[in-house]
Amino acid sequence: MKNIDVCLTPDLLHLHSIDNSIVIVTDIFRATSCMVTAFAYGIESILPVATVDECKDLQARGYIGAAERNAQKVEGFELDNSPFSYMDERLIGAKIAMTTTNGTLSITKAKSAAVKVLAGAFLNLNAIVKYLQTQPYDVLVLCAGWKGRPNLEDTLFAGAVVDALKDEYFVAEDSAILSMRTYQQAKDDMIGYLANSSHIRRLHRLGINKDISYCLQRDLYDVVPILRGNELVNM
Ligand code: MLT
Repeated sequence: MKNIDVCLTPDLLHLHSIDNSIVIVTDIFRATSCMVTAFAYGIESILPVATVDECKDLQARGYIGAAERNAQKVEGFELDNSPFSYMDERLIGAKIAMTTTNGTLSITKAKSAAVKVLAGAFLNLNAIVKYLQTQPYDVLVLCAGWKGRPNLEDTLFAGAVVDALKDEYFVAEDSAILSMRTYQQAKDDMIGYLANSSHIRRLHRLGINKDISYCLQRDLYDVVPILRGNELVNM
């Protein structure tokens, strides 16, 4: 039987052996929700990088640059990481280089060791689950968290994946059980459950409100972003 596990923050990734695993990176607010939306709206690829300097270099080489730090757009870049910024027909077919505080960093941490790396969000939950069911590998959901700390919204998404796959996979570790039980408690009112959570407070302080309910919608898009080499593409 295949195993499914959850890593609650990228700072704990070294505790997991992922050489037989598909890693689903999730950053619900907002990096992976933004990536899923971008593919649904027709962008060609996203090159996730850890640092602003790498993103700047790629922008100079012709990529469209998207950069966020502390939930705000970094000066000098064309795009931020709000999903709404990618609902733009001028971006159809675009190649984007992206750096975000936690989401792209998590992808870069997972990519050298995992069998495959996918970007998951509530927006493409079912598409991710269906894809995993066709695969012979273990699964690790890697929550991007916030600067090394776990967060509630990524934990909920991890729990949703475990909940969907619990009958087909061995749920071995408490982080997976914890995520699943948290999701089961929260699933009927995720916005209410997340009230006062730290990144929602941060986004509200910055006046970023509509992204929150948008990113908590399930199964809007049949999109599976997968890392091919260094770039995410839609499978
Ligand atoms: C991140 O990658 O840390 C997030 O996308 C932050 C944000 O909400 O802007």
